[in-house]
Amino acid sequence: MQAGFPEVSTIVQEAASCGDHAALEEFRLRWLGKKGEITTLLKSLGTAPPEERAARGAAIHVLKEAAQSAWDTRKVELDQAAEDAALHAGWVDVTAPSMARPLGRLHPITLLLEEVIDHFTGLGFEVASGPEIEDEFHNFDALNIPKDHPARDVWDTFYTDRREIPRTHTSSVQIRAMQTRKPPIRVISPGRVFRNETIDATHHASFNQVEGLLVDRHVTVAHLKHTLETLVHKLMGRRLETRFRPAFYPFVEPGLDLDVQCVFCSGVGCSICKGSGYIELIPGGLVHPKVLASCGLDPDEWQGFAFGMGFDRMVMMRYGIDDIRRLYDGRLQLVRQF
Ligand code: PHE
Repeated sequence: MQAGFPEVSTIVQEAASCGDHAALEEFRLRWLGKKGEITTLLKSLGTAPPEERAARGAAIHVLKEAAQSAWDTRKVELDQAAEDAALHAGWVDVTAPSMARPLGRLHPITLLLEEVIDHFTGLGFEVASGPEIEDEFHNFDALNIPKDHPARDVWDTFYTDRREIPRTHTSSVQIRAMQTRKPPIRVISPGRVFRNETIDATHHASFNQVEGLLVDRHVTVAHLKHTLETLVHKLMGRRLETRFRPAFYPFVEPGLDLDVQCVFCSGVGCSICKGSGYIELIPGGLVHPKVLASCGLDPDEWQGFAFGMGFDRMVMMRYGIDDIRRLYDGRLQLVRQF
């Protein structure tokens, strides 16, 4: 016990004898408040003789803990007493309707997108955006899809009267990113895209994509593979098997499709994966040298990988939604969560 210090028992006693919340508040101010006695003692430490400081500090700490815990104990007692009194006086009508809880929650697309953005920003990617109405250069030409080339048909493009294009993919944003940034570049581009599709359970004329682009030196397929595998594991919450198949996209060479073990049958084969045990999930590849060049980057110096996922399909797999139209009408119901 330090000379001139209050006794712990005095403090505890004082808290225990507070008759109501107001008295307890006075107690708190007197001992624990900014101008309270314990705080004043702490402040006086600086002027105490150096050899006494450690012992005084420890003693003040004991006082502080004791005061805080005495306050906590008394607070619980007084709260309980107040509640009992209220019940006794009939102030709480247990038959009254309960308070309304707010209805509604974030849309599954928003929920999953937040996870994806979180994942990629953790890896040093930025989120890039661009216009939904594009020109032919950004949507096609710069992506090594020449005018009048049959490859354009793949994207079932809508055109406006002025030959503007509601973008068919967010690859256009990657072109913009390469034009405006200096490598190394790491961006993802989430956004809405438009295609002249007949709408059914798995197709919509307007849906969401999240594309990704990395440009740096010595980039290989191994980097792309690792990036996509960690993404799938993160999003699906478990280590699903993945495989790559060669695929053709004019803006990448080599082009690949990443398949993921079917979450509905765990790879056994079912109607959703058409018996194959795999679901085609993410196309990607190494950025074509012509695409780098069309954005002013020297392909001998820089390489890149790109990928683009149909995001709605991801959302459907994750939340067990079996019809893409559900994502866009008002009757969305989550069936199961993987
Ligand atoms: N842009 C392509 C599409 O919408 C997807 C893709 C992106 C493929 C990047 C390969 C690399 O079909």
